[in-house]
Amino acid sequence: MSEDVLSKAPLFAALDRESAAALRTSVTEVRLAKGQTLFSENDAGDRLYVVLEGKIKLSRTAADGRENLLSVLGPGEMFGELSLFDPRPRTASAIALTEARLAGLGHDDLRPWLTGRPEVALHLLRALAQRLRRTNDVIADLVFTDVPGRVAKQLLDLAERFGQKTEEGVRVHHDLTQEELAQLVGASRETVNKALADFAQRGWLRIEAKAVLILDKERLQHRSR
Ligand code: CMP
Repeated sequence: MSEDVLSKAPLFAALDRESAAALRTSVTEVRLAKGQTLFSENDAGDRLYVVLEGKIKLSRTAADGRENLLSVLGPGEMFGELSLFDPRPRTASAIALTEARLAGLGHDDLRPWLTGRPEVALHLLRALAQRLRRTNDVIADLVFTDVPGRVAKQLLDLAERFGQKTEEGVRVHHDLTQEELAQLVGASRETVNKALADFAQRGWLRIEAKAVLILDKERLQHRSR
């Protein structure tokens, strides 16, 4: 199953079977326990990773100790490539939210593929462009959208990637604490909890332990705009 995940990741999707098999010989597997730090912001970095199983959070810490969650990544998603294109320290910390398994690839092993196979470079550029689009949306939301709107948007985004359809609605096992969800939204825990309680009271969702059950996706979508 995880080999399937790897073959669909941006790096490998560009390659035919034979080339993908050749690149795979450079892959090392990394296993993380829940809560384990893979690397920290400002560390030197020489590898990129593709999530095979589990969830990873990418976070940054402000000088006063406050945390901002940039993203929660799941199977098939890649991270740790910024220091490949721009050899400087890690721009965020990567921490396992659940037990996780990753495929790691050394930047030095990758460089010949980027220069020798333009399609690999193009797939990576596309992944970077998608991230920039997403980041621009996040910035615009921080400026233009209120906290409940941002909470709705984050839940829908998490639902798209981690949601499981049930008879009642879509269950989103985000594996985030209330504090982490607030860090992802970019607001205080109290404000985010208030928005969640309001949505629950309206019957749009049900709050569960490290999960939500989305009962009315349309209303949430409407609120996120
Ligand atoms: P790197 O700087 O090597 O290590 C941290 C990684 O987090 C970085 O590469 C990117 O892969 C990833 N990252 C940084 N900023 C964002 C962002 N805004 N959204 C998603 N991922 C990010």
